[in-house]
Amino acid sequence: MNNLQNHSNYWLRVLVLCLSFQTSLEIPTKPNIVLILADDLGIGDVGCYGNTTLRTPNIDRLAREGVRLTQHLAAASVCTPSRAAFLTGRYPIRSGMASETEAQVLLWTAASGGLPPNETTFAKILQRQGYATGLVGKWHLGVSCETRGDHCHHPLNHGFDYFYGMPLTLLLDCGTRHSQICRAQRAEHWFYTRMLSLLLLLLTLGKLVRILPIPWKVITCFAVCVLLYFISWYSSYGCLRHWNCILMRNHQACEQSMALERTTHLILREALSFIERNKQRPFLFFLSLLQVHAPLPTTDNFLGRSRHGLYGDNVEEMDWIVGKVLDILDREGLTKDTLVYFASDHGAFLEASLEDTLLGGWNGIYKGGKGMGGWEGGIRVPGIFWWPGVLPAGRVIDEPTSLMDVYPTVVQLGGGQVPRDRVIDGRDLMPLLRGHVPHSGHEFLFHYCGSRMHAARWYQRESGQIWKAHFETPTFLEGSVSCYVDSAMCPCYGSMTRHDPPLLFELSADPSEAKPLSPSSEPSFHAVVSRIKEATQEHRKTLTPVPQQLSGSSNTWNPWPQPCCGTFPFCSCQESPLPHAEL
Ligand SMILES: *[C@@H]1O[C@H](CO)[C@@H](O)[C@H](O)[C@H]1NC(C)=O
Ligand SMILES: *[C@@H]1O[C@H](CO)[C@@H](O)[C@H](O)[C@H]1NC(C)=O
Repeated sequence: MNNLQNHSNYWLRVLVLCLSFQTSLEIPTKPNIVLILADDLGIGDVGCYGNTTLRTPNIDRLAREGVRLTQHLAAASVCTPSRAAFLTGRYPIRSGMASETEAQVLLWTAASGGLPPNETTFAKILQRQGYATGLVGKWHLGVSCETRGDHCHHPLNHGFDYFYGMPLTLLLDCGTRHSQICRAQRAEHWFYTRMLSLLLLLLTLGKLVRILPIPWKVITCFAVCVLLYFISWYSSYGCLRHWNCILMRNHQACEQSMALERTTHLILREALSFIERNKQRPFLFFLSLLQVHAPLPTTDNFLGRSRHGLYGDNVEEMDWIVGKVLDILDREGLTKDTLVYFASDHGAFLEASLEDTLLGGWNGIYKGGKGMGGWEGGIRVPGIFWWPGVLPAGRVIDEPTSLMDVYPTVVQLGGGQVPRDRVIDGRDLMPLLRGHVPHSGHEFLFHYCGSRMHAARWYQRESGQIWKAHFETPTFLEGSVSCYVDSAMCPCYGSMTRHDPPLLFELSADPSEAKPLSPSSEPSFHAVVSRIKEATQEHRKTLTPVPQQLSGSSNTWNPWPQPCCGTFPFCSCQESPLPHAEL
């Protein structure tokens, strides 16, 4: 009897073991996917990455209950190319989204460049797999190619069913101080336009009644000049805000120019409402936060609350939004079926400032920041995956991973297949996150500045060493980590500092890239450099020439594709105000 009981106990235990093994191996199919991407947030700004003075309890919760990556890398240190890579799983140079000129990102909503329609985003694949797909927040990957409304680069043409947010990005010019300057300039422009028109009228009348013996040719010339002067305003930087600080809902511009003081609430309302509307279906929701980009519009609830000025207030507000999203997942009972990812598009913008106030963040122990080529501070970002019950809680992974890895990871979770007709640079992260493999799929990662490769990283798995070679670095001002005295960004071309042999660092020993190695200090110097060079040559062989999206006329203001509500060029509209209860 006793024996029998033991026996059945044994089998029971085997059964339980099998079942639990089963659940730990099997990933629920078609989970919801929530991707949260911050803008310009530094790895040193987040509590779970070591910041002790900024409060980010909701992001810290994701890390505590999920997997935190400590070597998570953006494909570029500025927005447009990094985001192109994130959405396509490919280095931005493959889609023409890596600039060959000074302008490293799209500068105008009305620029004709953008993410080419033949690139396949993960949203497009998941949409075909039956997912509801939504994007709320910043896009910054183009709108139209030729005419207003062709929307060839628009999110709705890239696999999103729903879009609400900024087609471009926050700019300093979107802020009220800049808009005051803009208004004053516009008044002046109108004044001169009217005066010149009056003069033109007088000249014409004088000619007609034969008082003024001016040839018609001269009058015509003058008329053309007056017209050009009038138009010049609309294509000048004075009008940045009017053309660029716009909200769109799907294909319609719905706020032009934006009233920044309520944008956060509009974005949050749209985010929660998208999840609410789609909770019955598998959904892919990309919350592309406007925080923490200058001019840091922050709601009254958070102003003056942090210990780090306006920037810190904005970070804490961003964390609150993350919390609101987690709340609704909790409330709707969706957490077991939802993968949440949090990251930043690149490192903090160290030089961001307005009138002596610093508006940029902190990249911790890493050198450099946004716009600084291959330096670690510009590309190493927070990266957290959270999926209770499927991903282990509190796990920390030091392996090199890329934002491009999100692509194959979510495509496969959604039951889709990554395209086979092109190179995909991302690697499925699920096995690494769950602990089924010890190493990341990246032996080499290449760090571009525009279309130039500034550095390359080699993860030598046998020894566990992470080598990084810089071929070019931005030329910093003497004794500083910045290229200019004002808040402009370092260039990728021109006065770069070239390194031959490359500047070599071993990141596991020197994560701050403080002490370059030399052949005398590092016996394997030449072997490592030549292995890295070989890999860069292999990589270059996989590149094919594609149309450039960020250079020349593709990245200038162009009246035809300009989104506009109302009558062009007098575009103007406001979102209906939020009911007070929602604020
Ligand atoms: C936390 O972040 C703020 C804002 O970027 C920064 O000034 C501060 O140095 C950081 N603190 C730590 C301990 O990293
Ligand atoms: C997209 O079209 C461009 C221009 O025709 C071409 O060069 C590029 O290879 C295409 N990309 C893909 C992924 O098919």
